[in-house]
Amino acid sequence: MSTAVATAAAAPLSDATLARFAREVAKYPAEQKQSAVMACLAIVQQEQGWVSSESEKAVAEYLGMPPMAVHEVTTFYNMYNQKPVGRFKLAVCTNAPCMFAGGPEALKHLCDKLGIEPYGTTADGQFTVQPCECLGACGDAPVMLVNDRNMCSFMSNDKLDQLVDGLRRAED
Ligand code: FES
Repeated sequence: MSTAVATAAAAPLSDATLARFAREVAKYPAEQKQSAVMACLAIVQQEQGWVSSESEKAVAEYLGMPPMAVHEVTTFYNMYNQKPVGRFKLAVCTNAPCMFAGGPEALKHLCDKLGIEPYGTTADGQFTVQPCECLGACGDAPVMLVNDRNMCSFMSNDKLDQLVDGLRRAED
């Protein structure tokens, strides 16, 4: 029998997803299972590519939290996608120190190269480009993250071109 959690408003969570949630919740005392909220949201995003409001509600229900509290986590952290993104999410830091060291120019170069606006996704679904907050590498500006994991430093226009072309080739 399926143990999927579903309500009229919430996206169903598969048994596999629930098993992963349970492993995260088990890391905390029973009365503090809400501490697993970031990990659960990360699992949802890993499996679905983004975190919909329905998924937020499902996570809230699972953890016994108000949906708004989950939404506050999703919207506070850059790494959670609140809408579908491309195969490659390119996040360029435009926070204050980077703002004066080429961050906005790197963001613009990427957008121009890909023919999209910030937060846009290419028509082929391959690339999403967006600004992001400080990545903790201000001295390496312009800096960016690929798919929330791979940090790229000193991103000149040439290096940005090489990155995008390399990612495209890797997909072909
Ligand atoms: S402000 Fe860009 S990495 Fe810190």
